[in-house]
Amino acid sequence: MKVELTQESPFEIDADAIVVGIFNSTDGNPVIEGPVAEIDSASGGMVSKLAEAGELSAEKLSITQLLAPQGMAAPVVVIVGLGEAGRASHDLSYRAAGAAVKHLATRSRSRVAVFLNSERLDHAVCGAINGCHGQDILRQENNLHPVETLIWRTEDRAAVDKGIVLAESMLLTRRMVNLPSNEIYPETFAAECAEAGGSAGFEVEVWDEDKLAEENCGAMLAVGRASAFPPRLVIMRYNGGAENQQPLGLVGKGVTFDSGGLSIKPGPSMVDMKCDMAGAATVLGAMNAIATLKLPVNVIGFAGLAENMIGGDSYRLGDVLKSRNGKTIEVHNTDAEGRLVLADVLDVAVQSGCAKLIDLATLTGACMVALGKDIVGLMANDNDWADAVYSAADDSTERVWPLPMFPEFGEQLKSKVADLKNIGEGRWGGAITAGKFLEEFVRGTPWVHLDIAGPAFADKPSAWIDAGASGCMVRTLVEVARRYEQAE
Ligand code: BES
Ligand code: MN
Ligand code: ZN
Repeated sequence: MKVELTQESPFEIDADAIVVGIFNSTDGNPVIEGPVAEIDSASGGMVSKLAEAGELSAEKLSITQLLAPQGMAAPVVVIVGLGEAGRASHDLSYRAAGAAVKHLATRSRSRVAVFLNSERLDHAVCGAINGCHGQDILRQENNLHPVETLIWRTEDRAAVDKGIVLAESMLLTRRMVNLPSNEIYPETFAAECAEAGGSAGFEVEVWDEDKLAEENCGAMLAVGRASAFPPRLVIMRYNGGAENQQPLGLVGKGVTFDSGGLSIKPGPSMVDMKCDMAGAATVLGAMNAIATLKLPVNVIGFAGLAENMIGGDSYRLGDVLKSRNGKTIEVHNTDAEGRLVLADVLDVAVQSGCAKLIDLATLTGACMVALGKDIVGLMANDNDWADAVYSAADDSTERVWPLPMFPEFGEQLKSKVADLKNIGEGRWGGAITAGKFLEEFVRGTPWVHLDIAGPAFADKPSAWIDAGASGCMVRTLVEVARRYEQAE
């Protein structure tokens, strides 16, 4: 998307609409300052008049729209509430810009000028671009119309450009997740990776089912066996760092549809299961951003792709699978398939020489029970690495919270016939037993598991982004990669 910079004032700029932000004072009255004050004086006091009449809200993410205000070149002004000054939450830049531009995207507009003095300009730009892109990508008439040209009052071209790269990478992730499973299955996902690699500048290797068999990926192959679309492992290599730097490994669950298998899901739980490849799509988005930004770091991204279906050759309850690292797994529930895919892929990542690992997966409903729909669950085998990922998420204004990894949770995974079984005893702590299962496959490499089952996909729109895929954690992974380079 095109973003132009400007130094013009809000009242003289030639645009279809302009966006400004407004804070509340502690006594609850909107504060007329900055760009809002410029509009106020140009319009002969229109804004202060509205504020005095109690018609102007500065409540967080509220929208006030002025039509054809006097003295203004632009016919539409959108004032987005920023809440109480001095109490701004750290994700306000992303959300406020998103909310204002999403509001304007209900019809097509060619030029929208933004006058927000954001704390985080890159995130504000990223929020604005995401805000005007919806999930209805296969409709003939879209609800949201991406703005043709955004105009931003700033001199910081670098921050704007970073925001554009982050946004476009999130849009890639979101598009992949929003596309249905009849369009995105292992082979087409792999083709999208190859295309992104070609334009962003990373190498793409694809393992097909024969190669996966050769590589003893018995767990992942079992999950995908009943599907007409065979599994794939995509390995994306970006070498921006020193030759001797051991790469960072990003591993994504890419279940392109999760029917539950023989442990079939009821219809209402199955209907959104196209989103079960969001981890892999997040890795793809992050690789796209890291390579486009040319970060001086070595990163390998892995997308473990399989479709969990039902057929005469379904894997069964009671089957014992041999995973790539040699551990045998007794299947007690074919709907706990993500961890089986990741078991093999994590082993490939370890053997590819990754010094540190992060996996991302829409892994458990239990994580949503624990943390709600908006927070990513973080589990790890290494406190320093967990802290590093946590702090990168915090700085990226993404919400992540740790879950404990006490050994007792792992004891629930004992099997009578195999090295492990694929679920714990009962449902309590289900996000953690899944995390403990994955830990068995990282061979002690510092590793963080991010359960994104809640935030990756929303069934309702928010003020700042449409429903459907959110693109969450792309920004965090980019920040982790940026710091990785500095730390090594
Ligand atoms: N893909 C699901 C988890 C999920 C649920 C993601 C809702 C997004 C929204 C996963 O494969 C799954 O089915 N997990 C089971 C695990 C259980 C069988 C131990 C679950 O959470 O019920
Ligand atoms: Mn499942
Ligand atoms: Zn799943």
